[in-house]
Amino acid sequence: MFDTDTISRFKELETPFYYYDLGLLRKTLRVCKEAADKYGFHVHYAMKANFNPKVLQAIQSFGFGADCVSGNEVSKAIASGFDKNQVVFAGVGKSDKEINTALDADIFCFNVESIQELNIINDLAKAKNKTARVAIRINPNVDAHTHHFITTGLDENKFGINGWQLNDVAETLRKCTNLEFVGIHFHIGSQITDLEVYKSLCVRINEMQDWFEDKGFRVKVLNTGGGLGVDYHNPDTKPIPDFEGYFKVFKDFLKIRPGQEVHFELGRALVAQSAALISRVLYVKNGQKKNFLVLDAGMTELIRPMLYQAYMKIENLTRESASPQVRKSESESQILKYDVVGPICESTDCFQKDVELPESFRGDLFAIRTAGAYGEVMASRYNLRDAIPSVYSE
Ligand code: LLP
Repeated sequence: MFDTDTISRFKELETPFYYYDLGLLRKTLRVCKEAADKYGFHVHYAMKANFNPKVLQAIQSFGFGADCVSGNEVSKAIASGFDKNQVVFAGVGKSDKEINTALDADIFCFNVESIQELNIINDLAKAKNKTARVAIRINPNVDAHTHHFITTGLDENKFGINGWQLNDVAETLRKCTNLEFVGIHFHIGSQITDLEVYKSLCVRINEMQDWFEDKGFRVKVLNTGGGLGVDYHNPDTKPIPDFEGYFKVFKDFLKIRPGQEVHFELGRALVAQSAALISRVLYVKNGQKKNFLVLDAGMTELIRPMLYQAYMKIENLTRESASPQVRKSESESQILKYDVVGPICESTDCFQKDVELPESFRGDLFAIRTAGAYGEVMASRYNLRDAIPSVYSE
């Protein structure tokens, strides 16, 4: 990701910033699109992962749809050129204002998460003399085997409608004259690296579609959600996720009816590897128990390690990736253990403890890798920090 020219360029820039490798982004999008096209699958990009304008522009240009979770995301998707017929809107707490925004935009479909929401969408659509297309988000009670903070498909999670409520759903759909049922929707969690989990999901989806068909509903769309994980440990050796293997699981295990559409909502897998957070060492604090590297970026710029105990690879670009001239000679450089921390006034503001790194110094450039998903979008102004800028490979 970082050749010597790129690192020289970084040296001239104020830190911290997000660096986007647009070439890698396009390559990832191409591989995913080709793998999905092979089976006629439709991918909606989960905009929540990253709504940086250049990222959205690239994704839209490949013909992906958009999966939105707020009225503002719906508006932004349409303003960014995504086709309204490929925009879906999920979320457990859609406000009336947001529902109206999506009705006015005439999006493809609402992924509905409760019976009460079905009734509200019906009322709001009726007031506009419109019909809203809806998919029922079902909580399949399938364990995604990922961090519990990013698990969504278990009975204990707030998302979706549980199996025991489906009779009421069918009844509500029958009496809501301003709703058109298009299909069923699932999303069991994020950063899923074990593809076996998706086989279990397929089994549940098949059961659910049988159930709806038995009740006389035609299921036009099976929406399997997102969640495909990326390799945070090896961003350079495996930068592109196994889209082929992922889609093949659904091809092999879903009972796809003739003419039925299969939809996906990938976020992280499309964008994570294409960006890094670039930061400088402000201070090196050598303590009796610990050595600390204090970076000029912290939880305000990238909160994943603090919020989800997420591992993200940390590199000293000045010592590890730079040209040999700026590196210390082999014999001189030593590997030390550091706690890599940010400047925020919170003990939790630590990117990683006991990281083995070459001896590091004030001013060294650092990269925190695989930061393209849930990085920039989750940044905050806490401590009245500056908004973080972005730098692009081209
Ligand atoms: N569809 C729905 C309904 C979702 O809730 C999500 C993510 C996705 C699709 C996309 O999931 P992905 O393919 O990106 O895994 N901030 C956390 C991740 C939260 C995911 C929220 N929902 C993190 O940084 O790990």
